[in-house]
Amino acid sequence: MKQNKIGPIAVFDSGYGGLTILDKLVKKLPKYDYIYLGDNARTPYGTRSFEVVYEYTLQCVKQLFEMGAHLVILACNTASAKALRNIQQKDLPNIDPERRVLGVIRPSVEQVNNLSQSKHIGIMGTTGTVQSESYVLEVEKLFPNIKVTQEACPMWVPLVENNEFLNGGADYFVEKNINNLLDKDNNIDTIILGCTHYPLLLPKIRKYVKESVKVIDQGRIVADSLFDYLQRHPEMDEKCSKNASVKFYTTESVEKFKHTAELFFDGNIKVEQIHL
Ligand code: DGL
Repeated sequence: MKQNKIGPIAVFDSGYGGLTILDKLVKKLPKYDYIYLGDNARTPYGTRSFEVVYEYTLQCVKQLFEMGAHLVILACNTASAKALRNIQQKDLPNIDPERRVLGVIRPSVEQVNNLSQSKHIGIMGTTGTVQSESYVLEVEKLFPNIKVTQEACPMWVPLVENNEFLNGGADYFVEKNINNLLDKDNNIDTIILGCTHYPLLLPKIRKYVKESVKVIDQGRIVADSLFDYLQRHPEMDEKCSKNASVKFYTTESVEKFKHTAELFFDGNIKVEQIHL
């Protein structure tokens, strides 16, 4: 493994969704170097088994360590739900106990008590995230007074990955899943978009949700949480290089990645293909 003393912050997702997080990280912490890896060749993860998501995520994390990162953000709820704990507890001590892997679920859950007045929240996520019950369990631990209702939206990631998220077909699935969620609990006043692809569907989502309901995308929350983390962990901050660069890697073809990534990330996209 690359033993450089300093390296970029790595951001990982199964595909393009993590770019919605990276965009906010770069805006909040512009001095740092970042590498982004999208496992576009094997996306979506949301419908895959626990074992497969864990195996793919671990492979990508190891690759990012090889590329010099000391800190990896799983900018993917599915990977955070199904792989993070195992990687933190089982794998990191063997790979390198000094490196860190962080997820997106915990920082999002920490905010829900401030966001919700009614104390009824909704989580929209992939089938994998919903079935893992990770959000429900985290909220129970931190805020047992909050009622959580979930809705799996298996069509939303394919709509985004196939660049159909602003077209008419997306309305059908967005309306259906939003109505399902609100039918299960109509006291919900805060909806967490528990999948990093979903912010791209925000214009559609807002069409089917009352104005009084907050719809939260995770980018800013994760950026604030990373900012705090680096302040609380100067030893990790020292290991993060700071030349304000962003590099992109994909397991799919470069042309395909560049074309769609431009819709998600506000900035210049230089991308290389990697083989895992
Ligand atoms: N963007 C990912 C998430 O936040 C999942 C997309 C997928 O199904 O691969 O859950």
